[in-house]
Amino acid sequence: MINPVYSASPDRYENGMKYRRSGKSGIMLPEISLGLWQNFGDTAPLARSREMLLHAFDNGICHFDLANNYGPSYGSAEATFGQVMQKDLAPYRDELFISTKAGYDMWPGPYGNLGSRKYLFSSLDQSLKRMKCNYVDVFYSHRFDPDTPLEETMQALVDIVRSGKALYAGISNYPHEAAATAYRYLADHDVPCLLHQVKYSMFHRNPETEGILQQAKEAGSGLIAFSPLAQGLLTDRYLNGIPQDSRAARDFSLKKDSITDEMLDKIRALNDIAAQRGQTLAQMALAWDLKDDLVTSVIVGASSVRQLDDNLKAIRNTEFSAEELELINKITETR
Ligand SMILES: NC(=O)c1ccc[n+]([C@@H]2O[C@H](COP(=O)([O-])OP(=O)(O)OC[C@H]3O[C@@H](n4cnc5c(N)ncnc54)[C@H](OP(=O)(O)O)[C@@H]3O)[C@@H](O)[C@H]2O)c1
Repeated sequence: MINPVYSASPDRYENGMKYRRSGKSGIMLPEISLGLWQNFGDTAPLARSREMLLHAFDNGICHFDLANNYGPSYGSAEATFGQVMQKDLAPYRDELFISTKAGYDMWPGPYGNLGSRKYLFSSLDQSLKRMKCNYVDVFYSHRFDPDTPLEETMQALVDIVRSGKALYAGISNYPHEAAATAYRYLADHDVPCLLHQVKYSMFHRNPETEGILQQAKEAGSGLIAFSPLAQGLLTDRYLNGIPQDSRAARDFSLKKDSITDEMLDKIRALNDIAAQRGQTLAQMALAWDLKDDLVTSVIVGASSVRQLDDNLKAIRNTEFSAEELELINKITETR
């Protein structure tokens, strides 16, 4: 069937989405962004991917997060995005904030991984072709590479921004010390870091305990949280077993054996607090990430429009009482 011509909802910025400034930059990002890591590859139906992308945009989600190897297969999430870009979203390019990254395994040989200038430049060129874009809004070094001089990786980001192929530079998964050097280098070269992208949820507190959240704020960088639902654990998805179509059933990035009785007890206890707040657990988990100004945006993954709609309602209440926070800490502290 031929897709009907897409026309974006005229209410897309009046549907309740809120926007936060990314660090000390001129960029505002939606509190909820959509990530294309697992559910938009060539094994997922294109019609469903398109529906989710357009539904997100119609509801004020103007930031889409990609990386070279998102799929599966590698590159195919960018290719899916490129198809939707070409057919539907091209007239809205100036309303979109699109990211991609390089840093993990992408192609064979010594130049398809980690942090060399060679890899970052080649990878971005490939990404732009797949995404049918002339430029991305932010290009990330996807991880710190201890064997490449950080100056080489950072200078590549600086030069990529100067080339116009990316408007801003970002880092992802950088440990504290490397992040400090990265922030300094980028600022000294007049390409201040726009975002540090890190895993952060009620179940994954390292950015708090390692001072990464505070560090980003002090450096004037935004901070964007990935896997805010702990890949689906912080939802009602696994309360009655492991559904066949779920991420845990695929047993790859979310292992079946992580869903223990002890884990389910915690999820149920958190689910009860969410219910008392009048939220689903997914909504409470996203709200928790957004409870203060240390996080600019949360990047959710979703495998259906229904999940996306559930998640969108999180921003209606991001306030927590001291008692709620203490209770949540007690439940999650042993993980
Ligand atoms: N920088 C990095 O290194 C890095 C690493 C990982 C991710 N990321 C980025 O962060 C994005 C999000 O990561 P993620 O996919 O792990 O995020 P997540 O939001 O923690 O998990 C997404 C999964 O949770 C389930 N889910 C979502 N909403 C739900 C709801 N309302 N009710 C029930 N279940 C729900 C779905 O699982 P089912 O599929 O089972 O339905 C979905 O696939 C990625 O797409 C990517 O852009 C970046």
